[in-house]
Amino acid sequence: MIDTPAATADRPTTRPAPRPAPRPGILDITPYKPGKATAEGVENPVKLSANENILGCSPLAREAFLAAADSLGLYPDGRGNRLRAALAERWDLEPERLILGCGTDEIFALLNQTFLTPGDNIIQGEFGFGAYAIGARANQGEVRYAPEPRYRIDVDAMLDLVDERTRLVFIANPANPTGTFLPRAEVERLHAGLPGDVLLVLDGAYAEFNTDPTFGDGLDLAREAQNIVVTHTFSKLHGLAALRVGWAYAPAAVADAVDRIRLPFNTSIAGQAAAIAALDDAEFQARSLALIETWRPWMIQQLGGLGLEVVPSSANFVLVGFERSGGRIAAAAEAFLAGRGLIVRGVAGYGLPDHLRITIGLEAHNRAVIEALGDFLGG
Ligand SMILES: Cc1ncc(COP(=O)(O)O)c(C=O)c1O
Repeated sequence: MIDTPAATADRPTTRPAPRPAPRPGILDITPYKPGKATAEGVENPVKLSANENILGCSPLAREAFLAAADSLGLYPDGRGNRLRAALAERWDLEPERLILGCGTDEIFALLNQTFLTPGDNIIQGEFGFGAYAIGARANQGEVRYAPEPRYRIDVDAMLDLVDERTRLVFIANPANPTGTFLPRAEVERLHAGLPGDVLLVLDGAYAEFNTDPTFGDGLDLAREAQNIVVTHTFSKLHGLAALRVGWAYAPAAVADAVDRIRLPFNTSIAGQAAAIAALDDAEFQARSLALIETWRPWMIQQLGGLGLEVVPSSANFVLVGFERSGGRIAAAAEAFLAGRGLIVRGVAGYGLPDHLRITIGLEAHNRAVIEALGDFLGG
């Protein structure tokens, strides 16, 4: 018998209908999980979970942002020439070697996209910031994690992982979520040990909070090197996380390559204007740093006094360890703090289930955290 079209349609099909398929590896990626912003049953919780600037932002930046409301119908200058010039002047850098991005997160993604061929690898610390790995995996790159003994980047462990398929090495300095830093001499040793075709990315998101004399953000090293990129963000010290502005200083050839694939308008008029104004507000920057320098040692001392393990921090947050319990105690402490309206960051996703990361807050917030943890541990 010859099938009629209707008879064929009734028959169960054996082959599934073709569907768009993401590139291999994409569905193995765990999405980035931002710090929580709400606490159940608490009206106005204090958010100490995303390392934002608890002072807000510079009033000058706010004014510049509001003035940008008059330009909402316009496309921004895609190259951000005014911001580029302001950054170049501030640090005596060549404007054409700068990369601007929708936060530094975008710059990490662009570097991965520019340099990785499937099967290449990147290297980062065991507890390294999640955005590097997501970008690498999205480009079918392998992510190699170097052990971080005592929560610190270990240069030799990183160098041990390098092979001919290594394209990028990412270091946050100071690091998130540990808060530790790699001294300038160790960064130099790492750079000296890398082949010339491996790009060393020094993520300085928290660099402004580290005034230790042995520390450097790497800009000086990057001036002469052909394979160093230093990134900085307006999200932390400058308090402009909402506006998504980051920048990088790169070798000219790297900046040129990245510029070819970035989105044409990846920073906004409001973001560029607020960033320029923020750069000029030395008073706000000093006030933000002073807050951290006052309360970071206090938090470290108080948390230690509660018998908790405190990782020495050079950033605007502190990583604190609870007893090894497969995360049970840390999670209970996080929930207890949330019940008091204090949102901190569980870092199990970073391989640290027994730790919490706490952003330094205002005096009242910091005291409330210590009091709550005291009650939690005593209760
Ligand atoms: C180590 C590190 N790098 C970069 C960033 C991202 O900054 P941005 O807001 O510029 O994308 C963060 C944000 O938390 C961070 O912790």
